[in-house]
Amino acid sequence: MSLKDDLNQIKENGLVKIESSKSVKELNDQIRVDLLGKKGLITQTLRGISNLPVEERPEMGSYANSIRDTLQVAIDNKAQELEEKELNEKLKSEKIDVTLPENKVIKGHPHVIQQIVDQIDDLFLGMGYEVLSGPEVEEDVYNFEMMNLPKDHPARDMQDTFYITDEILMRTQTSPMQARTLEKHDFSKGPLKMISPGLVYRRDTDDPTHSHQFHQVEGIVIDENITMADLKGTLEVMIEELFGDKFDVRLRPSYFPFTEPSVEVDITCFKCMGKGCSVCKGSGWIEVLGAGMVHPNVLKMAGVDANEYGGFAFGLGPDRFAMLKYGVTDIRDFYLNDLRFLSQFN
Ligand code: PHE
Repeated sequence: MSLKDDLNQIKENGLVKIESSKSVKELNDQIRVDLLGKKGLITQTLRGISNLPVEERPEMGSYANSIRDTLQVAIDNKAQELEEKELNEKLKSEKIDVTLPENKVIKGHPHVIQQIVDQIDDLFLGMGYEVLSGPEVEEDVYNFEMMNLPKDHPARDMQDTFYITDEILMRTQTSPMQARTLEKHDFSKGPLKMISPGLVYRRDTDDPTHSHQFHQVEGIVIDENITMADLKGTLEVMIEELFGDKFDVRLRPSYFPFTEPSVEVDITCFKCMGKGCSVCKGSGWIEVLGAGMVHPNVLKMAGVDANEYGGFAFGLGPDRFAMLKYGVTDIRDFYLNDLRFLSQFN
């Protein structure tokens, strides 16, 4: 048999093998290697060329190359065909059944107190207030002294707290943010309108209505010609936003060292709607926050001219709001992180 016959034979057998191949892997790993590889049939056969007379070698060489090309093209075509087929089979077998029930993803939601705070933030932002947060570890100067509570003031007793040093403590109220913002505010640029939500601390024994840690939102408005009517109007808007329009607001005289006059703010009892019941102890009213006109001493200590500027401040407890709004009877439930309780407020 001549070299040419050998090559033809390799081609014929090779094409049959390629055509009947069943997988891309077989085609590449076996057939391609057997035919065209370094130790493959074509290479082996080409070694015989050196036995031919010199003038016949080029022709045989190019004949062998053309057969190699033919086989190469056949393998590539078949490989493409098989790849498509394999892909289609894979697509068919891995088809997604969209009618199967989904794997439920459990979605969280903000804590109920945070929901109330967010609502308050939104409302006051809409009325042109800034929303600021202040330090929970606070200086005695801001927490007490600049709030008109000098070192020996008896009203400090009601707000005993955790002391870091003699001068640094866990803040007992968000009111120090009044002093902090008053001190910085440039009144030539307009009035001060600010709320400040955050955590406060007191040396309280925890019980259903007391927690050593709870939330407050401070509010302050200082400008020329601010009156108590502005305070009442602002509080009415807030109560309506948070509780609905069925609640009346009542101001009752009270005392805070940093406001004069001071008021305790009551709203219609949510339980009896004013008739008198056990929740409101028969009065028909429930106390929801403290407020008043900012004391001139507070303004003076922060470097503000108390003859020219004045205004109101208030401090409310989102914990208390949440308890009233949802009928929660134990403040500690907010802080125990029991999902059975918290997930009710989704
Ligand atoms: N800081 C007061 C408290 O914690 C509340 C309050 C704030 C009262 C602002 C008047 C004005 O009890």
